[in-house]
Amino acid sequence: MTEADLESHRNDVAAELRADVREGLTAAQKWLPPKWFYDAEGSELFEKITVLPEYYPTRSEREVLAARAVEIAELTGAHTLVELGSGSSEKTRLLLNALTAHGTLESFVPMDVSETALAEAASAISADYPKLEVRGVVGDFTRHLQLLPGTAPRVVAFLGGTIGNFLPAERTEFLRSVREVLDEGEWLLLGTDLVKDREILERAYDDAAGVTAAFNRNVLRVINAELGADFDPDAFEHVSYWDPGHEWIEMRLRARRRLEVHIPGADLVVSFAEGEHIRTEVSAKFRPSGVEAELAAAGFEVTRWWTDSQQRFGVSLARSVRA
Ligand code: SAH
Ligand code: AVI
Repeated sequence: MTEADLESHRNDVAAELRADVREGLTAAQKWLPPKWFYDAEGSELFEKITVLPEYYPTRSEREVLAARAVEIAELTGAHTLVELGSGSSEKTRLLLNALTAHGTLESFVPMDVSETALAEAASAISADYPKLEVRGVVGDFTRHLQLLPGTAPRVVAFLGGTIGNFLPAERTEFLRSVREVLDEGEWLLLGTDLVKDREILERAYDDAAGVTAAFNRNVLRVINAELGADFDPDAFEHVSYWDPGHEWIEMRLRARRRLEVHIPGADLVVSFAEGEHIRTEVSAKFRPSGVEAELAAAGFEVTRWWTDSQQRFGVSLARSVRA
């Protein structure tokens, strides 16, 4: 495989995790940030999720990208495609194909916290698109956006519905920070999962094969590995809960019994009552008007809005406008 250019902005992963664990697991309602799912094992589990029969978002978004990639290339004439939270960049190949055929694309800049997923994707893409400059950035998209290389016009792709994994205030801040690094007239391509029946949603996050449950418990394995903790992942039940008020799925890990967990790397002992849970992820679902309003508030104007044939997933192409 061709070696892709990879730069890292993740200096002290254990220190970052320690701070998050201390904050989240000492809160009255325990929580952990979802970015900690994604070590090498977590990224592999996520890829398995994407092909589960119950997990429709990847297929629905791929349907939209397959139908619209040429239009995206024509509208944007992008010289650089930046992808945030790129993972395997598998669907992104539809964009790379259209943009290289259009003749404008010079570089691809995938960014992800998961070094293994990024290195693998960047190498494979470098090999398959030999004329393209591929510059992978290992980093956190809430902290390292100013460091992204590439010439204008740029398209920043944020796919998969990962925007839904922010809390609302974090989402506002994130969209503003993306707008800040773009010049007027550059583009954001955003994938958003849509509000739908509770049953479809809860099943998508609690599959029969138990892959999502393993992905959820993986965060405990990451804390064990990085901070020497003694979590027994099997002592926690995987829960997927649709919160109709917030219109998000919450993934939780619920203690099956009373527990005391030692986390020496965070200098912490955490007690759990039976039934007490850690919120490990929210996955917000959107309505078209809400997406448009949030983008407008951040300084983007929606140029195109597309959904798949079952209207399960929305993709918007938005232009940055004068703030
Ligand atoms: N975009 C891909 C992958 C989605 S999974 C798709 O549509 O299938 C979410 C990805 O975001 C994972 O690869 C994960 O490692 C990455 N990620 C999560 N939090 C992140 C953060 N704060 N900064 C950068 N990448 C992050
Ligand atoms: C990455 N993100 C959009 C996924 C989601 O659907 O919220 C993560 C995931 N969690 C459970 N299954 C998939």
